[in-house]
Amino acid sequence: METGLAGKAVLVTGGASGIGRACVRAFEAEGARVGVIDRDGTDAAIVRADVTDELAFAAAVDGIARRLGGLDVVVGCAGISGPVGTPLAGTTAADVSAVLAVNVTGQFLLAKHALPWLGDGGSVVLLGSDSAFVAAPGMVPYCASKGAVVAMTRALAVEVPGVRFNCVCPSVVDTPMARGDLGAVLDDPAFPVQAPHDVARQVLFLASPASRPVNGQALLADFGMSARSAFPA
Ligand SMILES: NC(=O)c1ccc[n+]([C@@H]2O[C@H](COP(=O)([O-])OP(=O)(O)OC[C@H]3O[C@@H](n4cnc5c(N)ncnc54)[C@H](O)[C@@H]3O)[C@@H](O)[C@H]2O)c1
Repeated sequence: METGLAGKAVLVTGGASGIGRACVRAFEAEGARVGVIDRDGTDAAIVRADVTDELAFAAAVDGIARRLGGLDVVVGCAGISGPVGTPLAGTTAADVSAVLAVNVTGQFLLAKHALPWLGDGGSVVLLGSDSAFVAAPGMVPYCASKGAVVAMTRALAVEVPGVRFNCVCPSVVDTPMARGDLGAVLDDPAFPVQAPHDVARQVLFLASPASRPVNGQALLADFGMSARSAFPA
């Protein structure tokens, strides 16, 4: 597939690790010019900012957009999982607020501050999760945050003419986040796991003019797990 991304200006948040880092590499392999924001990471090219700190984050977005001469593509990968595996009684309001602050408010701030730099035909791809649609016990804050990302993606697509907003919603991906939450379960061959570059390819498609009519959508990539009915067959 011709992605048409060569020379395009791309901003990736959360690009120091996991899916974000795979996205940075995938866009660079297409010949795009990529700016990265993360609160962490050792690469000198990363602009350090926390997506929940509006002033610092907006300044980081502006700095990268100015250096790249505007933005064509914006990818929101910064995210946290929160207290995975914690029963409801042990989950605090502070836990919920912390997860929503990064996964929802952080994505909102990304859209808000990137928008002035995005021209007609721009594309924004946010990281949702299959947790927007299906749940495992002990993940209430995370599932709530990812449901909000799907709804916010639709709302942004309706609100902003000329720029497309979509989100990718992968099942478990082998990244430091998932390793920290699930450990060796990821190595069980019976358990379907994606690699970060699998998700990066989904992001490339939604970022590319090849997906021109796709707007306001959530790409649920879960090996068909959520498609199965309860019918006993
Ligand atoms: N790994 C999975 O199984 C999986 C599945 C579905 C969706 N996702 C989503 O994909 C995205 C990337 O996750 P990942 O698995 O690559 O995790 P990861 O922990 O490997 O990478 C997340 C990156 O986000 C950065 N980050 C976190 N909070 C930040 C903040 N406040 N400000 C700036 N940067 C911040 C981290 O420093 C890190 O570099 C997340 O939104 C996550 O919810 C992950």
